[in-house]
Amino acid sequence: MQIAIRREPIPGERRVAATPATVAQYTAAGFSVVVEQEAGLAAGHPDGAYRDAGAEVVAEVDLGAADVLAHVRPLDPATIGALAPGTITIGFASPASELPAVAALAERGITAFSLELIPRISRAQSMDALTSQSLIAGYRCVLEAALHFPRFFPLYMTAAGTIPPARVLVLGAGVAGLQAIATAKRLGAKVSAYDVRSASADEVRSMGGTFIALDLEENADAAGGYAKELAADRADRQRELLAPHVAAADVIVTTAAIPGRPAPRLITSPMLEGMTAGSVVVDLAAETGGNVEGAVAGETVAVDVPGGSVTIVGMKDAPSTMASDASRLLAQNIANVIALMSVEGSVAPDFDDEIIAASCVTHGGVVRHEPTATALADQKGAR
Ligand code: NAI
Repeated sequence: MQIAIRREPIPGERRVAATPATVAQYTAAGFSVVVEQEAGLAAGHPDGAYRDAGAEVVAEVDLGAADVLAHVRPLDPATIGALAPGTITIGFASPASELPAVAALAERGITAFSLELIPRISRAQSMDALTSQSLIAGYRCVLEAALHFPRFFPLYMTAAGTIPPARVLVLGAGVAGLQAIATAKRLGAKVSAYDVRSASADEVRSMGGTFIALDLEENADAAGGYAKELAADRADRQRELLAPHVAAADVIVTTAAIPGRPAPRLITSPMLEGMTAGSVVVDLAAETGGNVEGAVAGETVAVDVPGGSVTIVGMKDAPSTMASDASRLLAQNIANVIALMSVEGSVAPDFDDEIIAASCVTHGGVVRHEPTATALADQKGAR
């Protein structure tokens, strides 16, 4: 059975779905592997390293000959159309935002697995690509903030005077937020954090952050450890209660997200205007609607405040900026999914397995992921 790895076609995407280390695992398990030329170059893996691991390196992958296509970004219609019916695809399929691609996968008879749908259960931790990539994103956000911040993060007591530590506020304390807390702490900042989930207070404290408790009179816990969207009046109240904490922070990192929904708006322009000149806000959710008003994905903008400006960094492709370690973890996540489905060099998904069943978006011409099937049916009905 052949596993194919392409150079990611989306401009700016530097990650790759297999590393030489995972190729060696595939070949040892009895698979043949084809890798497109320069597929891993931006992640630090030259073609020769893939050849040494047992892959055939080709100028262009023959998609119609692939039994399994591992990918990073959601597949485009041309790629889906070139795959043979029955091909298995594994990667980020983003079903919530890529409905036409999901419809095309079903129509083509592709068995597509989406890394976003891997359940957050203990047995699936080694396959949890959302976690591995969020870890990188959270770390990177703090580095971006530190580079734009015109002051130190740590406390310094020098002969010329004492420099106080930066006050860092992290909003949204999931995987990325917790990593942001840990990174800012390592840099010596004074860190506080807030999240709507009830379990997050202990998680924030375990990373050394001070938890900010807001009285919202509403439990925002949803299934699978995720948060649910706040009602409009609760969201208003949340922003009102957050405003003084925002004004007191030197650096803010926002990572709040609701699966399948636009990112919640946590910081408005008037809240930004209350911040001190020189402060920095990094919005990891800029690509999905933005936690911060005015944040633009991939851009750094300045908001005028008395005495200067506040810098807003809209993060874009955060894991891709650290393509080497991001690919190392992502490729291993994918290899672990393939290993779960494999029997002697052949991929044969067992749909009785909870992880396989939950992460399969399309199979046999059917959209198996119920929320996506419902969204597609609603879209059809609206036409
Ligand atoms: P995510 O990326 O969906 O969201 C990031 C954070 O934003 C979440 O903590 C969420 O509560 C928070 N948030 C949403 N709306 C907010 C609002 N209005 N204000 C403030 N914060 C808001 O979440 P992520 O990072 O994927 O983690 C989700 C959960 O999954 C967490 O509970 C995490 O601990 C859990 N998890 C469990 C794993 C396991 O294997 N058991 C592995 C990884 C994560």
